[in-house]
Amino acid sequence: MKRDWGGLVSKIASLSAVEILDSRGRPTVLASCRLADGSAASASVPSGASTGAAEALELRDGDKMRYGGLGCLQAVANINDEINRALAGRQFETQAALDQVLLDLDGTPNKARLGANAILGVSLAFCRAQAAQRDLQLYAHLAQLADASPRLPRPMINLFSGGAHGGGQVAIQDLQLVVPAADSIRRTLAIVSDVFRAAADLTADRYGARLLTADEGGLAPPFESSEAMLKTAVEAIERAGYQPGKEVALTLDVAASQFYSSAGYRLDGAFFTRETMIDTLEKCCADYPIISIEDGLQEADWTGWQQLAQRLPGRVMILGDDLLCTNPDRIKRAIDLKAADSLLLKVNQVGTLTEAVAALKLARGAGWRIVVSARSGETEDDWLADLAAGWAGDYIKVGSITQSERLAKYNRLLVLEAQDVL
Ligand code: PGA
Ligand code: ZN
Repeated sequence: MKRDWGGLVSKIASLSAVEILDSRGRPTVLASCRLADGSAASASVPSGASTGAAEALELRDGDKMRYGGLGCLQAVANINDEINRALAGRQFETQAALDQVLLDLDGTPNKARLGANAILGVSLAFCRAQAAQRDLQLYAHLAQLADASPRLPRPMINLFSGGAHGGGQVAIQDLQLVVPAADSIRRTLAIVSDVFRAAADLTADRYGARLLTADEGGLAPPFESSEAMLKTAVEAIERAGYQPGKEVALTLDVAASQFYSSAGYRLDGAFFTRETMIDTLEKCCADYPIISIEDGLQEADWTGWQQLAQRLPGRVMILGDDLLCTNPDRIKRAIDLKAADSLLLKVNQVGTLTEAVAALKLARGAGWRIVVSARSGETEDDWLADLAAGWAGDYIKVGSITQSERLAKYNRLLVLEAQDVL
C-alpha cells in the first residue's frame, strides 16, 4: 500500500492497554497509542458469541476463578510489555507496515500467541493516532487505507433475537430490519423506532412478557417457531403504518452452525437436513419480504452454500459470516465456488485492519455487497461507524436501537450525516 502522504511518518512513542468490560460485562482490551509528535488515540476491541471456527484467536486468561476464565490480562500485558518494547521508537509510514510487524512478532497463523484482541487493539489505536496526526476524521483516513470513496451505509437493524444472542427460544439468531424507503440514517432510525415499539407492544400482548432484550438489544420473546418470529415482524411493520417489503424489509442471520450437529440442523423442535434447510429458507423468502440470508447453512458445507445460492431469489443476498470469517482465503474460495455474494465484514475475525482491507478488496472485486458488522459483545467505542462509512459498506449491522454500545455507532453515523461531507 504505497501512497503519497507528503512523506508523513508516524513514530510510536508508546503503546499501552487496559482491561475493560464489554456490553455483556465480559473483559476486553482497550489499547492506546501515542506518537512521537504527541498525537494519541485509543480503541477497544469487540467480541463475538457465535464465533466462526476460522476466526483469529481471542486470547483469554483461562483462570476460572476470574470472569469464568474470560479475563484479558494476558492480552493486555502483551501490549504493555512485548508489543510496546518491540514497537516503541519505530517509525511507520503505513498501516500495512505496522500490521506486518505485529503479524511477524506473533508468528502464528491465527494470532494465538499475542492474541487477536491484543493485535487488533494496537492496529486500531495506531490507525486512529495516525488519523489524528494527519488531522483527518477517522472515516477519511480509513477510506484512504482502502482506496475507497466514503459514503454512508444503510443500517440493518436488529428487531428480534434467538439463538446464542437470545435465550435460544428460537434457533434463528437475529431478525433485522432494512428500510429501503429511507434515504438517510435519520429517517431510517425514526422508522425502525416505530416498528420496534409496535413489536414490543405486540409481543407484550401476545406473550405477556415485559420487554426482555437480547445481547444486541433486540426483543427476545418466547416465539413458538421461526415462522412466528417472521410473522410478528411483518405484523409490527404493518401496525407501525409501513408497507412490508416496499418500505421496510427483513434480513435474517440464521447462524446455522450454532444449531448444527452430526444429527442435522435442530430447528423448531425437529431435525433438518441440508436439503430441507434449503427448502425451508426458500419458502421463507417466498412468503416474507426477506432481502438477505446470513449463514443459512453451517460453515463447512461449501456444496450446500452453492446450492442455496442457486435456489434463493435474486433479490436475496447470500451473506457469509461464519462461512467466511473475513478471511481472504475463504472469500476467494467462496467467489470461485459461487457459494455467496456478500461479505459480512468483522475486523476482529481476521485481526488487523490491513487483512480486513484485503478481504474488502477481494469481495468488492467480485462485485459482492459488503455488510460491515459489530459483534454481539461491543463497547461504547464508535470506530466501526467510521470504518463502515470510510470503506463504503453497503450496509452496517450493529444490533438494535437500544443500548449505548449500539447507539454509539448509530449516533456517530448521525453526526457524519449532519456534517454533510459524504
Ligand atoms: P457474534 O454475532 O458477534 O456473536 O458472532 C454477530 C453475528 O453472528 O453476525
Ligand atoms: Zn452472523
